[in-house]
Amino acid sequence: MDTKWLKIEKENMDSRLLKEAGNIIKAGGLVAFPTETVYGLGGDALNPESARKIYEAKGRPADNPLIVHIADFADLERIVSYIPETARILAECFWPGPMTMILNKADCVPYETTGGLSTIAVRYPADRIAQAFIKEAGGFVAAPSANTSGKPSPTNAGRVYEDLSGRIDMLLDGGDCEIGLESTIIDLTEDTPVILRPGGITMEMLMETLGCVDIDQTLLKDDLTTPPKAPGMKYRHYAPKGQLIIVEGGQEEVVSKINTLLSQAASEGKRTGVIGTTETVALYHADSIKNAGDRKDEEEIARNLYSILREFDDEGVEVIYSEAFEAKGLGQAVMNRLLKAAGHRVISAK
Ligand code: TXA
Ligand code: MG
Repeated sequence: MDTKWLKIEKENMDSRLLKEAGNIIKAGGLVAFPTETVYGLGGDALNPESARKIYEAKGRPADNPLIVHIADFADLERIVSYIPETARILAECFWPGPMTMILNKADCVPYETTGGLSTIAVRYPADRIAQAFIKEAGGFVAAPSANTSGKPSPTNAGRVYEDLSGRIDMLLDGGDCEIGLESTIIDLTEDTPVILRPGGITMEMLMETLGCVDIDQTLLKDDLTTPPKAPGMKYRHYAPKGQLIIVEGGQEEVVSKINTLLSQAASEGKRTGVIGTTETVALYHADSIKNAGDRKDEEEIARNLYSILREFDDEGVEVIYSEAFEAKGLGQAVMNRLLKAAGHRVISAK
């Protein structure tokens, strides 16, 4: 199949184009679209055949459920069996936005969409192109991130095309994603809300709103025996092809440790890379040196992380060292993804 790659302006959306994209979804086809977090690979959430196509296009295991995207809070009622008070409060505070809620599904949602689960993940994205597209598509768009399974999520249309060209009908190009990391997932099906994946709506923000929030403990450690509660979090993820290792410690120690490790790797003939920050990039010696952003600006680091990981692949970098980041606020999501990308390989600079 030929994939149509179409640019769309946020300020001046072409309604004919959005209608065409919506009709593809209604007819059971696939359209990749921008959201404020990462690009999504969309299909009709109420059509089991569309869910099957999504899994196939992504090369994703079918037990890994999809997120259903809506563009109107009133539509939530149709796809869940019950809306708890916590969901109303969170929606009021953080929707539209980078937050996905897990609720019990309604009968009309096929098990193909939820990976066989009786719960459903729902998000109301803030991106205006996403909202207009979802409305044209009938209101319920199932979408995982628009990458080949295992790769870092795409934060621009070029990266989607690289992974999915020939596998989807259309790609709506809305430019770069603002946040750059996937949404926060919060499970509201138990007594205490549980964060299954950290993201743009931080643990601190959720605590402040709900008072009491747990975090899935398997996210915090390298525990391969207990499966995480979000099925997708168990897969190797976000990973560059090269071996990524995180080095933690004080800034000076980290720079000197990473330089020692880089020169060892170089002497073994390996192509080397490093993820540093504005404060440190000038101090490194490597084949490829990336600046994730200002150490104090977690948002900038979040926005850059996935494109950096993918650039190392383009450049054939074999060994990558990254500085660690403070795991608070959005930094918790940054470190969660970085740790997964590194397969939890962390060494101390001491
Ligand atoms: O920001 C995002 O959330 C992006 C954009 C496109 O919206 N989407 C995204 O989808 O990251 P995906 O499929 O790459 O990740 C969805 C995660 C997976 O880890 C999946 O296992 C989990 O959500 N999930 C989906 N339904 C679930 C459910 N019923 N219970 C627990 N986890 C669920
Ligand atoms: Mg994904």
